[in-house]
Amino acid sequence: MKTSPPTIGVFDSGMGGLSVLHEMRLLMPQANLIYVADSAWLPYGNKSEALVQERATIITQFLIHQGASMIVVACNTATAAAVSDLRQTFEVPIIGMEPAVKPAAELTQTGVIAVLATENTTKSQRLASLTTRFADHITVLTQPCHGLVELVEAHALDTPATFALLEKYITPLLSAEADVLILGCTHYPFLKPAIQSLVGDKVKILDTGAAIARHVQKQWLMLYPDDNKQNSDEQSGSEFFYCTGDVQAANHLLAQFWREDCRCILLPETIKSAS
Ligand code: DGL
Repeated sequence: MKTSPPTIGVFDSGMGGLSVLHEMRLLMPQANLIYVADSAWLPYGNKSEALVQERATIITQFLIHQGASMIVVACNTATAAAVSDLRQTFEVPIIGMEPAVKPAAELTQTGVIAVLATENTTKSQRLASLTTRFADHITVLTQPCHGLVELVEAHALDTPATFALLEKYITPLLSAEADVLILGCTHYPFLKPAIQSLVGDKVKILDTGAAIARHVQKQWLMLYPDDNKQNSDEQSGSEFFYCTGDVQAANHLLAQFWREDCRCILLPETIKSAS
């Protein structure tokens, strides 16, 4: 008997998580996807852990209520703050992000790698433990990148202000001989062309969107063994987009980062309230 494709709920503080959603859609054309941009609370990167946990819980509840049978926390900051909590609270599989420390440690020639991320992620226990596990033998630099998330949300991907900020953050890393840069925030893949043009070809830039999507696909195949992607690459899964903040701004970004005809739905007041 054929089962119907399950729904996957995905969220981020804003539209950064679309970089992960994009990789998921490539692998799972039949998946029904619901995306929440918690834009009223963006950025998460400088908020308290308690607040990010609360937002993650409220949004996960909403997504499950909408029929999601799997949740992807498409945000490094929310993963670091809330993924263990979410796994204890909810029964559905919860998949989080993981900065690419392990592949970077395997790739470096100079023995120096650098993680670009939000302040909360750079300070997180999760990143510290990844570093201890996989990169104890090399130097791992961390660079909190205040302001980059806001520039991506403004679709300022290659403006002089963006280049100036990138240069400020990245030049010291290059001077310290970092030869692999890890994009530890799901917003940053949208800045990859700008970053690559700054650092040149010799420096590798890693993000984990594709790896997370492969992990999600494995879980998806357990829930949905009828998947027949081999026979059909046509997208048949539905897509719904929600935001908690400015809908017009969200629609503008969706048109740039996803598809021209996509529209965001403003979430009801209840999801906006946080203590
Ligand atoms: N995309 C989020 C992340 O991966 C951005 C965090 C923020 O809102 O500061 O960390």
